[in-house]
Amino acid sequence: MRNFIAGHALKAIEAGVDGLILVAAGAGGHAGTLSPFALIKEIRAHYDGPIALAGAISTGEAVLAAQILGADLAYMGTRFIASTEAQASADYKQSILQAGASDIIYTDKISGVHGNYLRQSLERAGLDLENLNQGPKGKIEYSKEQGAKAWKDIWGAGQGVAAIHHILPTAEIVNQLEAEYRAALDAVRRFA
Ligand SMILES: Cc1cc2nc3c(=O)[nH]c(=O)nc-3n(C[C@H](O)[C@H](O)[C@H](O)COP(=O)(O)O)c2cc1C
Repeated sequence: MRNFIAGHALKAIEAGVDGLILVAAGAGGHAGTLSPFALIKEIRAHYDGPIALAGAISTGEAVLAAQILGADLAYMGTRFIASTEAQASADYKQSILQAGASDIIYTDKISGVHGNYLRQSLERAGLDLENLNQGPKGKIEYSKEQGAKAWKDIWGAGQGVAAIHHILPTAEIVNQLEAEYRAALDAVRRFA
């Protein structure tokens, strides 16, 4: 039996899509569980059209890695939450700076579909993280007293938080990504 996520991609290819966004493990929001290494290899065997790869891509070297794996585009979300322009709250942005990859909790209890969330926001909503993924599948009623809302008070973010240390204007993030990308490319050329 084909795994669920690759199965979706294959269905989309059969339907004649113009391109695919592969949301691999570690991505912010509703993420998959497959390693980007495995996922893109599997899909590339069936599809040579445009692919954007997502999942914990927060640096220029990760963008280059996505291309090396066979992606045409790198698709980033979490990195831009910690931008001055993002309308996320100051607490949300600070949590991203402080979090490591293991502070990202994967659960279907918040929206009913599995996604990645910042530990701190789940704790603040009064959720018992030890037992969060126990019990029946799907969304739970959480923190009614505090009125916590998914996405507003329970913060989505991917494992790429580990590489985010500063809140910057978007233009500076992009410049930094470009500099990191070029440095990584030079390093790869030195290996060759
Ligand atoms: C807070 C948050 C909300 C998101 N909401 C959506 C959404 O509504 N629809 C969607 O297709 N992807 C959504 N995403 C996923 C992003 O489009 C993207 O696939 C993902 O952020 C890429 O992984 P990264 O965060 O590790 O860079 C969301 C991501 C985050 C962090």
